[in-house]
Amino acid sequence: MKRIAVFTSGGDAPGMNACIRAVVRGAVYHGIEVFGIRRGYNGMINGDIFQMTSHSVSNIVQRGGTILKSARSKEFMTPEGRAKAHEQLQKFGIEGLVAIGGNGTFTGATLFYDEYGIPTVGAPGTIDNDLYGTDYTIGFDTAVNTALEAIDKIRDTADSHDRIFIIEVMGRDSGYIAIQSGIAGGAEMVMVPEVLTPISEVVNTLKQGFVRSKSSSIVVVAEGEEEGSAVEVAEKISKLIDEELDMRVTTLGHIQRGGIPTAYDRILASRLGLGALEGLMNGEKNVMAGVINNELVYTPFRDTIRLPKPISEDLLRMVKILSV
Ligand code: F6P
Repeated sequence: MKRIAVFTSGGDAPGMNACIRAVVRGAVYHGIEVFGIRRGYNGMINGDIFQMTSHSVSNIVQRGGTILKSARSKEFMTPEGRAKAHEQLQKFGIEGLVAIGGNGTFTGATLFYDEYGIPTVGAPGTIDNDLYGTDYTIGFDTAVNTALEAIDKIRDTADSHDRIFIIEVMGRDSGYIAIQSGIAGGAEMVMVPEVLTPISEVVNTLKQGFVRSKSSSIVVVAEGEEEGSAVEVAEKISKLIDEELDMRVTTLGHIQRGGIPTAYDRILASRLGLGALEGLMNGEKNVMAGVINNELVYTPFRDTIRLPKPISEDLLRMVKILSV
């Protein structure tokens, strides 16, 4: 393989730049020409493709976001969009791709390979940590630390005013950010989409807290929680508790997506970027590079897309025990 391209797609995640750097510097090391594609699949369709050198990725290992920009492309999901993208890749002589993103990205890459035979190796870039085939995704650790910093600050006010706070963290279909930031932040309750937590259970936990003279409580709710958003959860709690509650809701939102990546995310991203590149060079295709038990592994896209990554029941049990 003489010429490859790298792109970021889907939601940005801290550490994506460190991953791009690893792909580019790895390619230079191995004597392969490397191109960058801006704005994910949209850039592939529009030919927004440029040659990268070692210098193109100087001074980015510490930066959040992605220098290649990102997008969720609707056009690439159409056969016409993929035909245009293929035409552009042919024009640039690109033989293989490294895709940094999540399952939407890998679904597109699989369709593209079936139609045009261009191999892709993925690196898991999403704050949600919802990808089967890796213990952690790029950006997750930073997002958890960002959420935790916010929870710690909110706890000061919860304690000073004897309040209940319902805090919503990101995770469209996944409770990983919620469970980890909740445990680290000493939350009284964590609600995740993977496990049903009836409001009555939340109310019981809060009431038991009152009985034990707890004056403040924190409930962390994942965005994709079945009982609804943090606002809806707060409304449901109010309806089930007779006492007047001093309760506030905070939605952390996109602050969790940005910022300086942690050391862990930079190292993981570097390892997975180089792993994806070297996998591609060694003939891997339609697989995602991941780290499981500290070993680099390749998992077929069909599995990362299809298989769930459940949250350990142990962690949920721990929240209950430790909040007593
Ligand atoms: O997948 C990452 C993520 O941040 C989710 O946690 C969240 O639901 C979604 O992206 C938000 O996407 P957007 O930035 O497009 O609104």
